[in-house]
Amino acid sequence: MKKIGVLTSGGDAPGMNAAVRAVAGRAIYNNVEVAGIRHGFKGLINWDSIDLTMGSVGDIIQRGGTILYTSRCEEFKTPEGIAKALNNLRTHSIDGLVVIGGDGSFHGGLALTKLGFPTVGIPGTIDNDIAYTDFTLGFDTAVNNVISAIDKIRDTATSHERTFVVEVMGREAGDIAVWSGLAGGAESILIPEVETSMDEVVQRLVQGVDRGKKHTIIVVAEGVAQADEIGNIIQAKTGFETRLTVLGHIQRGGSPTAVDRLLGSQMGAKAVDLLLDGQAGMMVGITNNQISVVSFEQALSKRHQMPMSIYELAKTLSM
Ligand code: F6P
Repeated sequence: MKKIGVLTSGGDAPGMNAAVRAVAGRAIYNNVEVAGIRHGFKGLINWDSIDLTMGSVGDIIQRGGTILYTSRCEEFKTPEGIAKALNNLRTHSIDGLVVIGGDGSFHGGLALTKLGFPTVGIPGTIDNDIAYTDFTLGFDTAVNNVISAIDKIRDTATSHERTFVVEVMGREAGDIAVWSGLAGGAESILIPEVETSMDEVVQRLVQGVDRGKKHTIIVVAEGVAQADEIGNIIQAKTGFETRLTVLGHIQRGGSPTAVDRLLGSQMGAKAVDLLLDGQAGMMVGITNNQISVVSFEQALSKRHQMPMSIYELAKTLSM
């Protein structure tokens, strides 16, 4: 391989820049040139690239977002879009591609691989919803963002003796809700993976108040319901003063944590090693604290399993 490309796709995630830096660093170390494709798969179709050098990836490891920009590209899902991308990759003498993104990005990577273009993937999404990796890039920072918000909400919730419903992201996955709910000491956590009756939530809330709790924090994953739906039910059933916080895109921003910087660095280097080793159609992950590799097909074959022990622990500790 003489030249490889790297792109970020789907929702941005803190740590993507660390991964871009590592891809460039590892490739250049091996005398391979690197093209940074901008705006995700859209940049492959309309050819928008910059040369990445050790200089251009300096000063980015600490930055949130992605210096390569990102997009959700519908055109790449069509045979015409893929053909244009493939043609551009060949015209610009790119020999392999690293795709950093979520499951949609891996479908794109798989399509390119099936057409004979070597592509490898790095799971980059705050949702932690990819199978065959314990964590995705950006998840740890998002969880820390949520915890920091919950800590602040708790101050005002206690002062006013209020109930707060905090809505967090995650699409269909409850990981952000569970990990931040446990670490933030939430009284109840509502996730798509577990059906929870509102009567149970209300019962726990009332019991807590009866025991002298000065506040209640309920974390709800966006895949379950919107904060106002939950808040309205609670207010109607208890009469307790209830407030809502929808954290939204704040969860996705900010400087990546050490965990995400280290993960991005390790995954980026491994992705290049795979390409140089002639392996394609693979996703780099992290399993039991070790960098792991599975095929795109495997990674896309099933839903990510959230460790239920964490959910159960959170439930027990918030009694
Ligand atoms: O996949 C990351 C994510 O932040 C989800 O948690 C959320 O549902 C979605 O992206 C929001 O998408 P957008 O940034 O396009 O509004």
